[in-house]
Amino acid sequence: MIRPAVLFVCLGNICRSPLAEAAFRAEAARAGLDALADSAGTADYHVGEPPDPRAVRTAARFGSDISGYRGRQVEAADFARFSHILALDHANLQGLKRIMPAGSGAQLGLLLDQVPGRAGQAVADPWYGDEEGFLITWQDVSAAARALVAELAR
Ligand code: 4NP
Repeated sequence: MIRPAVLFVCLGNICRSPLAEAAFRAEAARAGLDALADSAGTADYHVGEPPDPRAVRTAARFGSDISGYRGRQVEAADFARFSHILALDHANLQGLKRIMPAGSGAQLGLLLDQVPGRAGQAVADPWYGDEEGFLITWQDVSAAARALVAELAR
């Protein structure tokens, strides 16, 4: 099997996509799946910054340390480095389509397309809400991570 390389993309790369990356890493480790994982934002607002403290606390509650992650902006070259590029919501999927080089072989889609019954849905942005929203984010990205690892391990 060619080693899968998965990039998770939200807006700021400080809330949703770092949690998606962490959930995927944990699930891949549990399944013994050798995969590359990273996350990025379509915006450059938080480049070089650690994840939102609420995201760091939520990941820690579930056994993942994301305090060392740093924000970065997605770039066209990512389409050559990753086999799967998964957007957390529709606006970010549109942003990715705008920068996708012609002829890219990367599989591009919404993260929740992985989850039976949730195709076409977005992972809600928890940035403006309270910490409870990050728990919902964690549940969403964990469900997607489980489905994605099962699919990649097949
Ligand atoms: P994320 O959340 O896209 O899940 O990382 C956001 C982070 C920052 C902003 C918006 C959403 N912002 O406007 O700075």
